[in-house]
Formats: sequence, structure tokens, C-alpha cells
Amino acid sequence: MGSSRRVSAVVLLVVVVVAMLAVTGVYGKEKKKKEKICNKGWECSGSVYCCNETITDYFQVYQFEELFSKRNTPVAHANGFWDYQSFITAAALYEPLGFGTTGEKQIKMKEVAAFLGHVGSKTSCTNDNYGIIGQALKVDLLSHPEYLEQNATLAFQAAIWRWMTPMKKKQPSAHDVFVGNWKPTKNDTSSKRLPGFGATMNILYSDLVCGQGFIDSMNNIISHYQYYLDLMGVGREQSGDNLDCAEQAAFNPTAPTATS
Ligand SMILES: *[C@@H]1O[C@H](CO)[C@@H](O)[C@H](O)[C@H]1NC(C)=O
Ligand SMILES: *[C@@H]1O[C@H](CO)[C@@H](O)[C@H](O)[C@H]1NC(C)=O
Ligand SMILES: *[C@@H]1O[C@H](CO)[C@@H](O)[C@H](O)[C@H]1NC(C)=O
Repeated sequence: MGSSRRVSAVVLLVVVVVAMLAVTGVYGKEKKKKEKICNKGWECSGSVYCCNETITDYFQVYQFEELFSKRNTPVAHANGFWDYQSFITAAALYEPLGFGTTGEKQIKMKEVAAFLGHVGSKTSCTNDNYGIIGQALKVDLLSHPEYLEQNATLAFQAAIWRWMTPMKKKQPSAHDVFVGNWKPTKNDTSSKRLPGFGATMNILYSDLVCGQGFIDSMNNIISHYQYYLDLMGVGREQSGDNLDCAEQAAFNPTAPTATS
């Protein structure tokens, strides 16, 4: 009799403790979230990333225009097509996820320089999967790929989506690699893939640009990034470690059989 009562007392105690843990756990989490989330209107809302400066706080229209006017970019309609308002409108979709809003001000400015360096140097979405991007942006790009050439906001959205999205499960996005969210595995390290601008080229262009020494296409992208760092007042000396991908093996080789 006594022992069964003791057992039920122990069971009751356990239940009470578990319930208390559950309550405090949930409460703790909720409190933490509520403390952190911020709203900054149309540009950034409902996220921890909106609590610090957003892109319009540190990147103005005259800076954007300097980036895209002072150098002849090989992008088809670089002059006039890419405009500040389209960039900011597109960025607003991704700022709550950390695009240009992660970490300290200098990291944010560097991410904008890195992303726009890719855009200004060459990036077009012609090799990308219109189906997946169209799904992500809720636009029928399979039937209307020309929208990307006609609508700069959409084109920026597609490019930022590409920057923010891992190409495969368990792989980092270019954003993750750049802002320091990514820890290389042993496999990465032995393939010379380390955090930095170089690995963003690896993710975006694979072995078309990386693992082939200091080829022109790679150097061109790096020089855009560094030129933009200068123009934004950050300075190319802040380019960061692992700037190139000259010796990196591709995350996703385009022709896996062509090893020799
Ligand atoms: C906000 O800014 C601080 C100081 O610059 C930085 O340490 C922190 O990581 C930033 N928050 C986010 C969510 O990036
Ligand atoms: C351009 O694309 C954006 C984003 O999908 C859309 O909101 C806007 O209406 C489009 N503009 C035109 C002129 O079609
Ligand atoms: C390591 O990398 C190689 C090629 O870079 C790949 O084929 C292999 O699957 C990777 N292994 C793991 C465990 O990720």
C-alpha cells in the first residue's frame, strides 16, 4: 500500500516537473522571440534582422548609380536597366531573412558590394532553372522567361533568390558563406573551400569560374567586388580572406565525369 502511494507520488512529481519545464520552455522561447523581432515598414518587418540598420540606411541612390555608371559592364542592358528602386524593392523580400541586414554595418555593406559585384560583372540567370525560380517568386517564368529581361525588380528578385538559396540540401547559400553562417566540413577544407568571397563564386558559377587558376572570368568578378567596396567607402583592403576560388573544387561540378 505504502509503496504504491510512494510510486504515485513520484509519478505525480515527475509530471509536475515536466509540465513546469514545458511551460517555462515555451514561455522562454516566446519571450525571446518577442524581444527581438522588429518592424521597419515596407522594407523590413517581422524579423530579428530588421532591428539593425537596413539597406536604405547605409546605401543610397547616388552610391548605387556610381556602382553602375562608372564602369562599362558587360551586362546586356546594364545602363538604365538596373536601377536603385528596383534593387531596394527586390531586396525588401529578403532583408527579413538577413540579406544586407546580417551582422555589423561593415558586413552588411560588404554583402551588398559582393552581391552587386556579381550582378555587375556578368551574372545573368540564363543558366538557372526558370521553373524553380518562378515557383519561388510566383511568376510563370517557364512560359515567360522574357519577363526577366523586361522587369528589373523581377531580375533582382531572381538574383537575390539565387544568392540566398542553397542549391542542394546540406550546402550553404552564397549568403551563408559570405556572412559567416557556414562552417566548412573536412571535405570542404580538403577541397580548399573556405568562408569568403571565393566560395560565393563557387556556389554561383561552379567550375565555370572556380578551380582553374586565376582565369579572366574569375578575376573580373573579384575586381568588380573590390571596385564596389572602394566606391561604397568600405575599401578593398576589407575584401576578406579566401577572396578567390582559383584552387577550389566545385561544390557541384558541372561535368562530374570529366576528372582526369
Ligand atoms: C545587429 O548589430 C549588432 C552590432 O552591430 C550585431 O552584433 C548583430 O549581429 C546584429 N544583428 C543581426 C541580427 O545581425
Ligand atoms: C515586375 O515584377 C514585380 C515583382 O514580381 C511585380 O510586382 C511588378 O508588377 C512587375 N512590373 C511590371 C511592369 O510588370
Ligand atoms: C566530398 O566531396 C566530393 C567531391 O568534392 C563528393 O563527391 C563527396 O560526395 C563528398 N563527400 C561527402 C561526405 O560529402
